[in-house]
Amino acid sequence: MLIRPARLTDAADLPAIEKSAAQLYSGAAGLAWLADGPLIAQAAHESRILQQSVWVAETDEGVLTGFISTEIVDTELHIWELSVHMDWQRRGIGGLLMASAYQHALAQGLSALTLTTFSDVAWCAPAYARLGFQQLLQPGQRLQETLDAEALHGLPPGRRIAMRLPMGMFTQRH
Ligand SMILES: CC(C)(COP(=O)(O)OP(=O)(O)OC[C@H]1O[C@@H](n2cnc3c(N)ncnc32)[C@H](O)[C@@H]1OP(=O)(O)O)[C@@H](O)C(=O)NCCC(=O)NCCS
Repeated sequence: MLIRPARLTDAADLPAIEKSAAQLYSGAAGLAWLADGPLIAQAAHESRILQQSVWVAETDEGVLTGFISTEIVDTELHIWELSVHMDWQRRGIGGLLMASAYQHALAQGLSALTLTTFSDVAWCAPAYARLGFQQLLQPGQRLQETLDAEALHGLPPGRRIAMRLPMGMFTQRH
């Protein structure tokens, strides 16, 4: 599986990957609606790709199987979305995509990765904690605003947390 920076021509494929990935939520208590939830628009992907903030996973046959979409905010790299197509999950691709974001943050001299996620969903906070992310009990203004915006979009605030992984703390699992 090749992990590489996304190209503009990849953007059209990313919503279908996100949609497929989200099917995982169809069996998650109280979150089944996310399987049909809103997707990042192709234009938004194009914008982040132009900022060199998106990486994709690609098979030898040229099939895209997953992506990670990020943004540098001040001295941190925020992970906006990590999705792996349902046919390709649990093979370490999510971990590889996260590792590319980490390497990018390291190369850019950033201080940490950040994200918001579900505290109680197996492929979310518990998996991120194994990579080295720690829950922020006091998220700070930027991440709190993200959590607030998510709540406005219907994500249950009691199940959402902010996490941070300082440089030097990443644990490669595969
Ligand atoms: C999160 C996601 C990208 C992980 O992709 P992946 O390629 O399956 O990730 P990995 O194979 O590297 O697995 C990472 C860990 O997540 C956990 N995990 C992944 N899928 C899981 C599942 N279905 N059930 C329980 N744990 C799961 C496991 O701990 C796994 O590590 P392990 O296989 O060594 O035990 C993928 O599950 C996905 O696309 N989910 C839907 C979208 C989403 O929730 N994105 C994250 C939003 S915060």
